[in-house]
Amino acid sequence: MTELKVIEDVAAEAAARISAVAEAGGSVVLAGGSTPKKAYELASAADWSTAKVWFGDERCVPPDDERSNFRMAKEALFDRLAAPPAAIFRMPGELAPEEAAHQYAADIFEHDAEPFDLLLLGIGSDAHTASLFPGKPEISQRNLLVTAVPEAGLEPFVPRVSLTVPALVRAKEILFLITGESKAGPVKASFATEHSMTPAGIVARKARGRVTVLLDAAAAAEL
Ligand code: 6PG
Repeated sequence: MTELKVIEDVAAEAAARISAVAEAGGSVVLAGGSTPKKAYELASAADWSTAKVWFGDERCVPPDDERSNFRMAKEALFDRLAAPPAAIFRMPGELAPEEAAHQYAADIFEHDAEPFDLLLLGIGSDAHTASLFPGKPEISQRNLLVTAVPEAGLEPFVPRVSLTVPALVRAKEILFLITGESKAGPVKASFATEHSMTPAGIVARKARGRVTVLLDAAAAAEL
């Protein structure tokens, strides 16, 4: 079941939910892009010292590149914490995408990380989620936990590494953070359309656990 929740302060609600899982020592899978930044900043007030942090996708750039999802999380969250998380599992974006995907899958396996406790996701203006883009082959990957994405469908046009649908849908809980009018169309196509075949819609439909979509009024405008 996907619950759509339209609220004024998406960041505050998301931060409260993320903080609760972090403080309970759970595994949190961070989303990239710009939307979650404020929520991460707010969640940095929590105690992450027993939490395990994973990533849902990464751009294939070095970790200090301004397009890096890790860099965004570091600046908004890790650098602000009183004590570091018990573990941060970064996707090695500085490697070739196939190698990075292979290494990250090995990390997940070695640390027995699945199913993740809380998976954060965003949505693109083309309804992609993580780095699974519509019309690209990676959305159909069923045999791997992590995939290389040689060609991104949207900016920044650098290769990506992404968790696959099978890895995403097994999370115990999924939280989408979505704001702004450019997301209104993809929100409708993904969460208010029967048998949605957008990447975000597929993940929400196939999810094993609870799915909550936090939206501001602009992102909910077409619902
Ligand atoms: C990425 C993402 C991606 C993101 C959406 C929304 O690395 O690009 O993780 O799936 O969540 O593209 O991005 P914005 O929040 O910047 O709109």
